Amino acid sequence: MPPANPFLDQEQIRGTLYSGPERLASRTGALLEARTSGTPVVEVLADLLRTWLALPVPDAHLLDVGCGRGTTSRALAELGPASLVALDLSPGLVSTTRSRLPPGGRRAAVCADFHRLPFGSGTFDATIAAFCLYHSSDPTAVIGEISRCLRIGGVFIAVTKSVDSYRELDELLTDIGLTSNTASQPSLYAAAHSENIHALSAPHLEVGQLLHEEHRFRFETLEHLAGYLATTPKYTFASSTGSDRQRLTEELRRHGCATPVSASSTVSYLVGVRHE
Ligand SMILES: C[S@@+](CC[C@H](N)C(=O)[O-])C[C@H]1O[C@@H](n2cnc3c(N)ncnc32)[C@H](O)[C@@H]1O
Repeated sequence: MPPANPFLDQEQIRGTLYSGPERLASRTGALLEARTSGTPVVEVLADLLRTWLALPVPDAHLLDVGCGRGTTSRALAELGPASLVALDLSPGLVSTTRSRLPPGGRRAAVCADFHRLPFGSGTFDATIAAFCLYHSSDPTAVIGEISRCLRIGGVFIAVTKSVDSYRELDELLTDIGLTSNTASQPSLYAAAHSENIHALSAPHLEVGQLLHEEHRFRFETLEHLAGYLATTPKYTFASSTGSDRQRLTEELRRHGCATPVSASSTVSYLVGVRHE
């Protein structure tokens, strides 16, 4: 039987990964701190919206699905759209997003499953799905649902990562003997990634643009590296190490892990337009 992908495991999605903001904040915080090149995602999203929306952003009704802690939602709200709805499966993260949205304007954070969006057809001018479609075992169905909720001429922007993202960390952990089966595990991004996002979207939308940008990361200290490794679900460490950052730092040191550690990931943006 092939090894399970934790990003598709409903128990992990609803439980350890996303029940509250802490683990997601540590994972993305460790990556952001390590990033040495790559345009901030929110800047690319703002440019794509301005390019592809058929109306000015202040007149647009936006939806951010799989909003997590609301980092992207907050940046979208700061563009001053006519309205913004942020949506996530996790009640804890919806509540965090609500508290992080800037005050004023028509803003809402709602708890729902992106496979069944609680909106009428043709409600939004643009929908963003950043780093979340790879949590669905049927991303094309999610994109179909998103397309239904777009007006004719409305814009979908998906952001995802390459299937081989952070492979340098897999190799490192195998080389130092801290994990043994990492290379044979499926990519966390297997369901919706840079290489298949076009094929996943094409049944529902006209693909207008596909952009790829390599992001590079450099973890200067073992503690910083452990902060990422302990919060990504790909790696299973000995039960004595678990997901404890301090213990993992000590284990990395004991296994002779040298710093700095470099890694890379391609971030991809797909723009699709609803034509009928
Ligand atoms: C990595 S986070 C997204 C981060 C966020 N989009 C951002 O740009 O900061 C992935 C999110 O997808 C959400 N998610 C997973 N499955 C979902 C589903 N079926 N419906 C809605 N949200 C889902 C998770 O709860 C999690 O908050």
